[in-house]
Amino acid sequence: MSYQETYRRSREQPEAFWAEAAEAIDWETRWDRVLDDSRPPFYRWFAGARLNTCWNALDRHVEAGNGARIALIWDSPVTGSIERFSYRELRDRVARFAGVLAGLGVRQGDRVLIYLPMVPEAAVAMLACARIGAVHSVVFGGFAAHELATRIDDARPRVILSASCGIETSRIIPYKPLLDAAIAEARSKPLACVILQRPMCRAELVAGRDHDWQEMEAAAHPVDCVSVAATDPLYILYTSGTTGIPKGVVRDNGGHAVALAWSMRNIYGIAPDEVFWTASDIGWVVGHSYIVYGPLIHGCTSVMYEGKPVGTPDAGAFWRVIDEHDVRVFFTAPTAFRAIKREDPDGKLIRARDLSRFRALFLAGERADPPTVAWAEEQLRVPVIDHWWQTETGWPIGANCLGIEQLPVKHGSCTRAVPGWDVRVLESEPVGEAQEMKPGEIGALAIKLPLPPGALPTLWQADERFVESYLSAYPGYYQTADAGFIDADGYIHVMTRTDDIINVAAHRLSTGEIEEVVAAHPDVAECAVMGVADPLKGQVPLGLVVLKAGVERPVGAIEDEVVALVRDRIGPVASFKTALIVERLPKTRSGKILRGTMRSIADGADYRMPATIDDPAILGEIGEALGRAGYPQKN
Ligand code: COA
Ligand code: AMP
Repeated sequence: MSYQETYRRSREQPEAFWAEAAEAIDWETRWDRVLDDSRPPFYRWFAGARLNTCWNALDRHVEAGNGARIALIWDSPVTGSIERFSYRELRDRVARFAGVLAGLGVRQGDRVLIYLPMVPEAAVAMLACARIGAVHSVVFGGFAAHELATRIDDARPRVILSASCGIETSRIIPYKPLLDAAIAEARSKPLACVILQRPMCRAELVAGRDHDWQEMEAAAHPVDCVSVAATDPLYILYTSGTTGIPKGVVRDNGGHAVALAWSMRNIYGIAPDEVFWTASDIGWVVGHSYIVYGPLIHGCTSVMYEGKPVGTPDAGAFWRVIDEHDVRVFFTAPTAFRAIKREDPDGKLIRARDLSRFRALFLAGERADPPTVAWAEEQLRVPVIDHWWQTETGWPIGANCLGIEQLPVKHGSCTRAVPGWDVRVLESEPVGEAQEMKPGEIGALAIKLPLPPGALPTLWQADERFVESYLSAYPGYYQTADAGFIDADGYIHVMTRTDDIINVAAHRLSTGEIEEVVAAHPDVAECAVMGVADPLKGQVPLGLVVLKAGVERPVGAIEDEVVALVRDRIGPVASFKTALIVERLPKTRSGKILRGTMRSIADGADYRMPATIDDPAILGEIGEALGRAGYPQKN
């Protein structure tokens, strides 16, 4: 069936479409209704059905005679290790670790927080939670203790799973002090922590609370999969909102399994016994969907990579992994390619490897800039597919679905709406009901409800915030908070966010949240944080800071303290390296800080003097301060 026909069917007969897709999943009880639309704007897929996600990811493949197939290849250049786990081995480890959790009193519906580096135990932990119906919440290792504490307080986990350390290229990052500080700060205390002791750095265990991972796993008895409702939560994944309180995106079990299985075959075009690799981190949605659940549910071999695109040891690392493990389809973020291109512009390290069986590269997490896509196409000579999605959606909204029909690629576009997603471009600031924009006109990218299976049903224990954040601006639609246009061929072009979220090395950050931290410095009167263009990371945050009257400490020391504060409160992942102290910030006559104008100055872009500006002279001062600090930055 062509893309066009498949898409039309998904729109005209969504229930039949998804019921058919659901045949790829093992159900314990089948559904009463494919789509329960009795309580709009809350929709539920596969209501009444029961299943277990871990069964679908592991046990059923073993039962089907594929136990010897490799489920997971852990490739860790930072430790010099490669380990392979067959489906049977992974199932057995997961069953045993599920026994550890059950032994610690974790029951169906309890939350388990996972703060782990890219080690196989991270996948074991997630799947073990799924096995016993516990709800996991993975927190990315690059977040600081305070961010971890806010997530602990929201999810209130019974147990926390962590490790002694992570490894960033060659630096050992002790995790345990961050975990201890987070638990000390959080109001909600876990009953137990299970700590993986890595040989390069051992953690101090707190008697009575902390347990040694290996000892617990060795002593545990395996437990079987429990049955959960399709609509029960599988996980919570926190993502940046516009304030310091992150949003707990909820994923259900049934719709998620169906959507991911469908996407593996139809979007990525991969067969169950092939090797699929996503170079991301389990702390992000990309890692949840396409390192752990998607490939395993589909029966693929998934590669888990503990390393970087460059520096572990060089810009040829990706090509080594693809060659050595026979990767057929690879998914990463454009920023990784920019890092590689910078070190190996002629692709010498690419040609040093046999990539003849490698079929396609998928890029997401940020806009795939056309020069990077063109370079990747020229070097790799395979389709390079930009695809667009979000933590909230769980799987791609816009893509070139290679498993259905390969459409012509247009640089700067993520191709067309994926079957299941009804993408519209609406007026950005409607008066009354929002009208749809014409082809080629920029507006707010919105998705007509109901969202397909796999997308978030709500936010964790925050139905009202879910409605307010996503469904209230355009009644009947989900607001993506991305702006863009759909061209005359139906191709989606995602251009920018409409809120204060910025994309730093494909990591999602809120400038509002960074501002809250900067403003907490005792010498700071007010501040503005914005994402400025960066040749490697796409964007990086830049802070402009006005001091309180009478502060006479050295400016350089205060700037350093502000940078350190953000690193300490949010984490190194924020890549907040520059705070500039200025006399005044430009504002409108009503007092709104003109962040967009300052960003244009920092980027060296053309801008129009805002008609509502209070004092145009301030822009000159800001330009001079930015110029002294080297903005716009040269490549
Ligand atoms: N634990 C602890 N610290 C971490 C971390 C983790 N899991 N992940 C990142 N950090 C730290 C980094 O060491 C760095 O610290 P530094 O400021 O002391 O150097 C900081 O957080 C920023 O990290 P990052 O933005 O990743 O920058 P980088 O310079 O280390 O690497 C790239 C740049 C482009 C190579 C890297 O971002 C990359 O590989 N990106 C791939 C994209 C990706 O994974 N996207 C996920 C969504 S698809
Ligand atoms: P996250 O929730 O961290 O996955 O970030 C989602 C956001 O990243 C989206 O809302 C977009 O702003 C951006 N994004 C992700 N993929 C793309 C893409 N292919 N093109 C443009 N922007 C993207």
